[in-house]
Amino acid sequence: MANSKLLLTFFQFTLVLSVLGLAYTCSLTLDYYKTSCPSAKYIAKAITKKYISRDPTLAASLLRLHFHDCFVWGCDGSVLLNSTKNNTAERDAYPNLSLRGFQVIDSVKKALEKKCPGVVSCADLLALVARDAVLQIGGPFWPVPLGRRDGRVSIASEANDNLPSPAFNITQLKASFASKGLSDKDLVVLSGGHNIGIAHCPSFADRLYNFSGQGGTDPTMDQNYIDALKKKCPPGDNTTPVEMDPGSYKTFDAHYYNLVRKSRGLFQSDAALLTDSATNAYVQLQATTDGITFMEDFAESMVKMGQIGVLTGSSGEIRKQCSTIN
Ligand code: HEM
Ligand SMILES: *[C@@H]1O[C@H](CO)[C@@H](O)[C@H](O)[C@H]1NC(C)=O
Ligand SMILES: *[C@@H]1O[C@H](CO)[C@@H](O)[C@H](O)[C@H]1NC(C)=O
Ligand SMILES: *[C@@H]1O[C@H](CO)[C@@H](O)[C@H](O)[C@H]1NC(C)=O
Ligand SMILES: *[C@@H]1O[C@H](CO)[C@@H](O)[C@H](O)[C@H]1NC(C)=O
Ligand SMILES: *[C@@H]1O[C@H](CO)[C@@H](O)[C@H](O)[C@H]1NC(C)=O
Repeated sequence: MANSKLLLTFFQFTLVLSVLGLAYTCSLTLDYYKTSCPSAKYIAKAITKKYISRDPTLAASLLRLHFHDCFVWGCDGSVLLNSTKNNTAERDAYPNLSLRGFQVIDSVKKALEKKCPGVVSCADLLALVARDAVLQIGGPFWPVPLGRRDGRVSIASEANDNLPSPAFNITQLKASFASKGLSDKDLVVLSGGHNIGIAHCPSFADRLYNFSGQGGTDPTMDQNYIDALKKKCPPGDNTTPVEMDPGSYKTFDAHYYNLVRKSRGLFQSDAALLTDSATNAYVQLQATTDGITFMEDFAESMVKMGQIGVLTGSSGEIRKQCSTIN
């Protein structure tokens, strides 16, 4: 009796898992490299671990790389391509200001090319490494369906057109996410990625000095926070890094929502989450419950984000080096 009940529970559990799996994976699969490169996941994890333990701030950069990759031409590794003589690539577009972490991907790729040459895509590596890095600094685990192939195109202007601006209002943010098949919930959940990492003054300076081109400050931002930020970012400062979640920018937690709730979101796009009833309700809930569902929500939305516009089958290629097409 006890045994059959246990068995049933186990069965139901696997059923739920496989239904979830089917719903999420579409053309990608969790065991994609099972025979072609069984150690891929473990090698990626080990190398990521080595880098993150030396420099935990890289986790934020790796998460952002994956986000940028997915929003421009789909998750196809195009953010990793170098500019060429006749083409300025995404990584050299204006929003690249703080893109870092390329060396981690390159290092994993190098190890995998030795182990199983020409098998594992750079786009899959970005997805795996972002997950492993976030997990290592206290974030949730999420399954990473694999089988993405690498694109052959990377154009700076596409990054400028497809990445949401930190000055976006809620209407623009929702439209940007919707155009990638992501919901309003994904927007408020994934914005929580701003609980780690840094930003540079130009990303929010207009809120301090020239809001809406009128010369004043953003009335929706906490005045003490404005004063503190002005000290860090004198007018015209293009280089000073500022912690997005002051005090805990190296560990993954739900504290971002407390800040947004207290009008201390760093970007207008963060503050904008308070101006819609549904996203506002989500901010209030997470802020007042220490992020009751944030970890699982983030995991779910990351799986969705990781499938935007993926190339599969015979589209694209498997790059030999992540920074150049074959
Ligand atoms: C909702 C629209 C979003 C906007 C407008 C936005 C904008 C930005 C901007 C302007 C920066 C700072 C760049 C700089 O000044 O150096 C930044 C950093 C960052 N963003 Fe976003 N972002 C958005 C969504 C996301 C998403 C979906 C994720 C991941 C799930 C993410 C993760 C990050 C991380 C981790 C950093 C810090 C990077 C580092 O420390 O190197 N962002 N974002
Ligand atoms: C791509 O650019 C980076 C940074 O400029 C450089 O270190 C790397 O060697 C380049 N990759 C190739 C294959 O040229
Ligand atoms: C840019 O140059 C490469 C060779 O370096 C060539 O393969 C490619 O077709 C050129 N692209 C454009 C848009 O001219
Ligand atoms: C960002 O773009 C600028 C040119 O706009 C380039 O000089 C710089 O190397 C790029 N940064 C990275 C990390 O690729
Ligand atoms: C958001 O910005 C767009 C473009 O500037 C503007 O047309 C729209 O009215 C704004 N929406 C809100 C809710 O502020
Ligand atoms: C503020 O923004 C307006 C409109 O973009 C611009 O014309 C003006 O020069 C800016 N003022 C300063 C001090 O940067």
